[in-house]
Amino acid sequence: MDSILIKGGKKLKGTIRVSGSKNAALPELFASILTDDEVILQNLPRLDDTRASVALLERFGKSVKWTGRSSCVISAHSKPSGEIPYDLVRRMRASILMAGPALARYSKVRISLPGGCAIGMRPIDIHLEGFKKLGARVTLKGGYVEMTATRLVGARIKLRYPSVGATENLVMAASLADGKTVIENAAREPEISDLCAMLSGMGAVISGAGTARIAIEGAARLGGVKHRVIPDRIEAATYLTAAAITGGDVVLEGAEPSHMRAVLSKIAAAGVRISLAGDTISASASGRTLKPVSVRTAVYPGFPTDLQAQWMALMSVVKGDARVVETVFENRFLHVAELRRLGARLSVCENTVRISGGAALSGAPVMVSDLRAGAALVLAGLAAGGVTNILRVYHLDRGYENLVGKLRRLGAGIRRVSG
Ligand code: EPZ
Repeated sequence: MDSILIKGGKKLKGTIRVSGSKNAALPELFASILTDDEVILQNLPRLDDTRASVALLERFGKSVKWTGRSSCVISAHSKPSGEIPYDLVRRMRASILMAGPALARYSKVRISLPGGCAIGMRPIDIHLEGFKKLGARVTLKGGYVEMTATRLVGARIKLRYPSVGATENLVMAASLADGKTVIENAAREPEISDLCAMLSGMGAVISGAGTARIAIEGAARLGGVKHRVIPDRIEAATYLTAAAITGGDVVLEGAEPSHMRAVLSKIAAAGVRISLAGDTISASASGRTLKPVSVRTAVYPGFPTDLQAQWMALMSVVKGDARVVETVFENRFLHVAELRRLGARLSVCENTVRISGGAALSGAPVMVSDLRAGAALVLAGLAAGGVTNILRVYHLDRGYENLVGKLRRLGAGIRRVSG
């Protein structure tokens, strides 16, 4: 297994380009199941998760060709198997997002229940409740969910929690249902708005995307589309936090600042100078004394849970006390023990971590437990004295395109060691 070695203490400086959003790309790849026409996706990040999604699509009767650095063409190739097996689902939980399109298109689907993962149980009850409202018969057997429906029928669905994945799955299913569906208490993340924009390009009639109430008029069929994936707001926020933690100056191109308001206001409150110009975000921390800023994660447009670990790393080195409260997942503090190994002073009480900042971090071997915990360890390693050896970096390959290359471009002392 590969590892990453970081010699910390260098101030990052330079310009990098933000990749396409992993969390928009995954549902959008699966949305291609809704049509046999050609679907072209541009600005698709080359990640282990997008590669896994392509492999799933190919098992589901699609032919997928990468055309150029970040575009792919998806076309119908053969009859889908209709089953989404455990060995694929357990590796990538987002494969559950095949269920909605497959059910709507083929009136039946058999998908393995996703196991839990490092950050929590991550059940799919909200997805399944919504499918039942649309007329699906849902049975659980042998660790699999079997769903059948002669024809999905539009319905009013009120989510008990604004689940991102459930909203995406149900919007995709409803886009081929008979009649109108209204999803209340829908998630409002930009990735959902982007998925709805793609579906509209395919002929779906959707209103309210990005709000808590989304209405979908089911269509008899959906056509092909060429769609450009939005920038990855979490990747962008991770690099802004890297500028802050190293006291450097970083410019991001190809970003979408309007998707990052909560993060940008927290980074500015911490004392980083932020300037925006179109799709470019500049973050300057050189020569500035940063201040402790507490965060409480929330659904969009609140502070994103996917940046909670990275923020904790930053607050570990900023003088003064801060708190991080996690409200979205029940077990998203696995990075605390590893950050402590680097010298961070953290104490956990239920869903709150108290940070006694101003720690002088020092390099050590640390282990990645999940994607964003890994990002936090990289950031801490960039600020730590000495060498940090980051193990199990395959987690990072799922969600950060060319991480080492982008950080090296910014002057980081970082290299990947194949193991
Ligand atoms: C998406 O996961 C993202 N993944 C996650 O990003 C992100 O952290 C999360 O949304 C929250 O923003 C993708 O988009 C591929 P949820 P998802 O359904 O859809 C509970 C990353 O690092 N819940 O909004 O799985 C669930 O357990 C990843 O890029 C139920 O109880 O998130 C969690 O506590 C990590 N029942 C909360 O809701 C359900 O049926 C939020 O989950 C569904 C969810």
